[in-house]
Parts: sequence; C-alpha cells; structure tokens
Amino acid sequence: MKRLHEVIDVPCNLSEAFRFTSDFGRIEEWDPGVVASEKLTPGPVREGSQFKVVIKAGLGTSEMHYTILQYEPPHRVVLEGVGETVHALDDIRFSDINGRTQIDYMAELTLSGLAGKLEFLLDKALERVGKRAMTGLRRALTPLAQAPGESLRRDLLDRLVVPGALGFTRFGYEHRRKSWRPITERLEGRTAIVTGATSGLGRVVAGELAGLGAKVILIGRNQEKLNQAVEEICEDTGNGNLLIEQADLSVMAEVRDLAARLLDKEKELHILVNNAAVLPTERTMTPEGLETAFATDLLSPWLLTRLLIPRLKASAPARIINVSSGGMYLSGIDVDELQNSSGSYDGSRAYARAKRGLMVLTETWARELADSGVVVNAMHPGWADTPGVQDSLPAFHRVTRSVLRTPEQGADTIVWLAAATEAGQVSGKLWLDREPHLAAIFPGTGGSERQRQQLIDKLTRLAA
Ligand SMILES: NC(=O)c1ccc[n+]([C@@H]2O[C@H](COP(=O)([O-])OP(=O)(O)OC[C@H]3O[C@@H](n4cnc5c(N)ncnc54)[C@H](OP(=O)(O)O)[C@@H]3O)[C@@H](O)[C@H]2O)c1
Repeated sequence: MKRLHEVIDVPCNLSEAFRFTSDFGRIEEWDPGVVASEKLTPGPVREGSQFKVVIKAGLGTSEMHYTILQYEPPHRVVLEGVGETVHALDDIRFSDINGRTQIDYMAELTLSGLAGKLEFLLDKALERVGKRAMTGLRRALTPLAQAPGESLRRDLLDRLVVPGALGFTRFGYEHRRKSWRPITERLEGRTAIVTGATSGLGRVVAGELAGLGAKVILIGRNQEKLNQAVEEICEDTGNGNLLIEQADLSVMAEVRDLAARLLDKEKELHILVNNAAVLPTERTMTPEGLETAFATDLLSPWLLTRLLIPRLKASAPARIINVSSGGMYLSGIDVDELQNSSGSYDGSRAYARAKRGLMVLTETWARELADSGVVVNAMHPGWADTPGVQDSLPAFHRVTRSVLRTPEQGADTIVWLAAATEAGQVSGKLWLDREPHLAAIFPGTGGSERQRQQLIDKLTRLAA
C-alpha cells in the first residue's frame, strides 16, 4: 500500500474549498492526472454520492468509481475509489486559518495485478502525481485578481469575421476552456433573478446558480414550465431556495408589476440576468402596440433593470448581465426604426437591432453605476443548440447543428459573470467565453454619443 500525504493552504474560505474539492464530478478541472469526471448520482453532493473518474494510466486511461463514505461539511470528506487495479481511500480535511483554508489530503493507494507487482517502481511516479494534483487544486482555489483584459490579437480575429464566427461554434468554446480556472465561488446569501429561465440558456443558468447556492428567482411567461424547471433544479441541486415569478416580458405593464413584486418581496437583489428574448419570423404587435422583438429584447430589459437598479445598488456588490448576441455586430443604432416598421419585416434584423441597443444600455449603465458596487456586462453565448434557435432559425440550425454548442457551453460565460471573483472587477464589456471582445466591428455600428442619448430618451418615452 502507498500512502500519500500533502498539505496545502489556499486563499479561499472553508465552505468554498470544501464544496469544490468534495465534488469529484469536477476533479477533471484541477487534477491533471484526470481525463474526465462525472457525478453519477442525482441531487447534491452528500454521503453516498458516486462519481466516475477516468485517470491517465501509462499510455492509456483507466476508469475509477468513487463513493463518498463520510461527508462532514465543511471539515472532512472521505472517498473510496475502486478501479480495475487500484483501490484508493482519500481522506481530506479542511480547516480555517484566518479566512484561508488549509487542506490536509491523505490518500492510501493499493495496487493489484501487474501494477501491484511493480509498486516499488511506481513509488516516485505516484508521489509526483499526488504533488501535481495538489498544485492543480491550489491553483483552482486561488481566485484570479482580475479578469482577462483586451487583446490586439483577439480584436483582429473579431474584425476578420470568419475566424471570429468560427469561435462561436463549440470548437471556440472547447479551445478557450483549456486555459480557464474553475468557478469555485459559492453564492449562498446571494439572490439572483434570471429572465427566460424556462428554456435554453436561461434554464441552465438558473440551475447552475442554484447549484452554487444562490437563491434563484425564475422569471417566465409559462407557469407550467416554471413549475417544472423549479422541480428539476431542486432535485438536481438540493437547493430549495427557488422562487417563481410569472410575467409576459413583452408587456410593459407586466414588467412593472413584476418589478413591484420583486421589490416588495426581496430586500436584497445581487444578480440580474436579462436573458429572455425572441427572434420572431413575422412582425407581430404586443397588446400595448409595440413590435414584439423590440418590446421583449430591448424595452423590457431596459425597464426591468431601471426599476431594479436602486435595490441592486443598495445590495451591492451586485452584477447585471445582459445576454446579447453576435447578431448585433450587423446592426447600428437606428432610433427611428426601433420598432422595425418600414419595409418588409426581417426578424433577424429586428433582433440584431435590439441586441445592439442592449449593448448600448450595458455601456451606459456601466458608466452610470461606476463606483456604486454594481457592475454591468453583456455577453454573447456563441451559437448554442436551444429551443429558441431550433424554432426561430430552423435552416441555420439544420446546417450548423453538428458544430453548435450545448446550452451549458453557451451559458458558461453568464454563470462566470455572475459568480467569478475576477468578473466582479470589470464593467461595460462584451464577453464571449470569459474574454472581452469588441462591441462593434463594422464602422458606424457602435453609434455616436448623440445616437446613444437619443436611444435612451426614446426608451424612456416608450416605457412610460
Ligand atoms: N442560443 C444561441 O445560440 C444564442 C445566440 C446568441 C444569443 N442568444 C441569446 O441567449 C438568450 C437565450 O436564448 P435561448 O437560445 O436560450 O432561447 P430560448 O430557448 O428561446 O429561451 C428563451 C427564454 O425566454 C423566454 N421568453 C421569451 N419571450 C418571453 C416573454 N415575452 N416573457 C417571458 N419570457 C419570455 C422563453 O420562455 P418560453 O419557455 O415560454 O418560450 C425562454 O425561457 C437570448 O437572449 C438570446 O438572444 C442565444
């Protein structure tokens, strides 16, 4: 039997260190000796939770099955791992040292078969593997001081359009994720609002934020879908701190009612994800006489955010995340055409206009809220396979299906913007895959200060 013992000290709190390390479904994010990992049992991580862990073994890989034998948050977790030729017992203890966490990691490995016979030769190699794993864990649990900054190379690729668009596919996500630090922050005590939480990216974001411990308020227009989402998220994460607010966000009277209910019920609001949007195939009007894409994708997040900003400020630090789209690159600001009334209707154009407007709001609010403790960012999810894309862009979906991202991949940057320490340091940017990107690539599309002000004035008038 081989005993490994390492002690590390990490600059994060006990609860974050414990929760992250105990979840062996995420061990691939920190242990370089692991190729893939997955949680096999539903519900929160707890005693009895099981994980599949694929480890590097010589030139190939080998599968291990881990079970949590003892789960004593936030101080100790004991896991048993069983593989074809390895048996492991990992006893991990956590202690608080002035706000930092000491992790005392002991592993007993018993090798059988040929590996057992060669154990004396593998001695040093096993020690190296153990030390590399601890280095990975320390890195994962060390928050970055700041988010990535601008990069000339990235700006150039954005401007070259085709390479930029290739980055929207799952290949862009898979390439960029290699350099990421895992999200280890916990959101207990934080309240998050997610609009459009019944489908696609919004549904994933609601689940992920609940998994990180936040109280999540799911906003949607369909009560049945909302109930189902809450039921599933509660079962998946064990987080029962989930609330539902039904509202048709294309109707400003409902947006106002919604904001009033939220302000009445929630003394603190920390995260607002403006995610709900539509891309209609034909021009339709809301009961209030507004064009639907404009009302849902731009006027509604404008109004909801304006009404909630005082509470977000009072609850600071807080974050606003506007889900934009690469489609906005094709559009400038046209205040006279906000409702897409002239010429034949083009849903993609209406959508792009609204998303450009949302980017302008992001930059405007970021300036307005500088030094208030509220940061405002926009993001582009890339191209993700969601019900929205399937229904609104069937031809695009047919052609690109094999390269589309999963909803989880598309939603990743929203969750990162909501939770990661470093993402709380920046404001007013457009993000794709946790990197800032140009907000405008074609001349004139960013808009002048005058056009921006006209847009804000018009939204204020229309929302009233
Ligand atoms: N998927 C992509 O590739 C992609 C690319 C770029 C940007 N985006 C952006 O990502 C966000 C999410 O898109 P998605 O692909 O996940 O779309 P999706 O699957 O259609 O989800 C949209 C969500 O918004 C809700 N919603 C729509 N209209 C609403 C209204 N009037 N009132 C209340 N809720 C409403 C929908 O509710 P129902 O469930 O009732 O329909 C649904 O929950 C959008 O902002 C979209 O523009 C997506």
